[in-house]
Amino acid sequence: MKPIYFDYAATTPCDREVVEAMLPYFYDRFGNPSSMHAFGQETRGAVEQARETIAAFLGAAPSEVIFTGGGTESNNTAVKGVAYARRKKGNHIITSRIEHHAVIEPCRFLEKEGFQVTYLPVDSDGLVDPGDVKKAITDRTILISIMHANNEIGTIQPVREIGGIARERGIPFHTDAVQTFGHLPFTVDELNADLLSASAHKLYGPKGVGLLYLRKGTRITPFMHGGEQEGNRRASTHNVPGIIGFGKAVELAKRSMEEEIRNLTALRDRLIRGIMESIGEVKLNGHPHLRLPGNVNVSIAHVEGEGMLLSLDLLGIASATGSACSSSSLEPSHVLMAIGLTHETAHGSLRFSLGRPTTSSDIDRLLDVLPQVVKRLRSMSPLYQSRDKA
Ligand SMILES: Cc1ncc(COP(=O)(O)O)c(C=O)c1O
Repeated sequence: MKPIYFDYAATTPCDREVVEAMLPYFYDRFGNPSSMHAFGQETRGAVEQARETIAAFLGAAPSEVIFTGGGTESNNTAVKGVAYARRKKGNHIITSRIEHHAVIEPCRFLEKEGFQVTYLPVDSDGLVDPGDVKKAITDRTILISIMHANNEIGTIQPVREIGGIARERGIPFHTDAVQTFGHLPFTVDELNADLLSASAHKLYGPKGVGLLYLRKGTRITPFMHGGEQEGNRRASTHNVPGIIGFGKAVELAKRSMEEEIRNLTALRDRLIRGIMESIGEVKLNGHPHLRLPGNVNVSIAHVEGEGMLLSLDLLGIASATGSACSSSSLEPSHVLMAIGLTHETAHGSLRFSLGRPTTSSDIDRLLDVLPQVVKRLRSMSPLYQSRDKA
């Protein structure tokens, strides 16, 4: 049986059209866009065309789009770049407890450098309260970074409101939109974002290329020093095929986004209902409706997430878990902890992320297989057995 992939939040396959658009830039059109000769000018034109497509999609000026090596680099550049550029103005950063590691870790790094970071809590659905953002602001606050949607539980944050609060106080607002760019309709103005991170491999583009939107007038200290590429904001020779692929992926997203949101939301809700109806003691993690169209995250009592993941994998179904029994720390996901799950509940979590290729029969198959997997694992669990007898 054909394997089924339910891990589109981790990465997506490249669309065939994306690969076809990229191919000539490996062979004939290989020039360095910084070169003055015709080979260079040809690729420079193509890079600028991709930048225009992407900027228009974001409602931004092309000069406000910086190509990077992915979402992690964009987040690092935003957080550390603004912190260092505004160091004389203050040393306080506001973020949330459920950010991706690519925001949390730069913040932890900055704490060692003398910055202070407030990690705001979230409610049980994973929402940041804009009121908490307001209260956390001090005269020393130099950056607010709150993600657009969470990669694990799918909750979509009230970033427009948070960005508005930041703007009123003259504080740059960054949002990690890696999970929403190309999946939800927005412009940077609608989100009140001064900085925004995105990554091509989450929207059927290639890996290793991303962008940082940087609103005109917002200053960063680049952490890559070298050539003058990207207006002196990100040194290194452009990843030309990657950037061309990113532009193509955005073009395709623009075309299919509305239909995709409709399809994925319907499939997602059917999957959630199906799991709830066929398996007892299940909890949906994340917000019931303010969530990514393709995200399903559940905690299933009395089973380990990794046991389910591996059993499903053997049956040809790929999923993800916030459980971390095999990691050295044994700590479950910081996101699941932040929404108030117990260790036990967090260890029984599974994420299914749906994507453009997901079909209704994929959902049928999962709804057929998952209850059997859970039943088998529960039948082997001494805890579950003793609970029955109690
Ligand atoms: C919310 C979020 N931010 C950042 C990243 C990192 O992006 P990249 O893999 O392009 O470095 C990811 C990837 O999983 C993500 O989901």
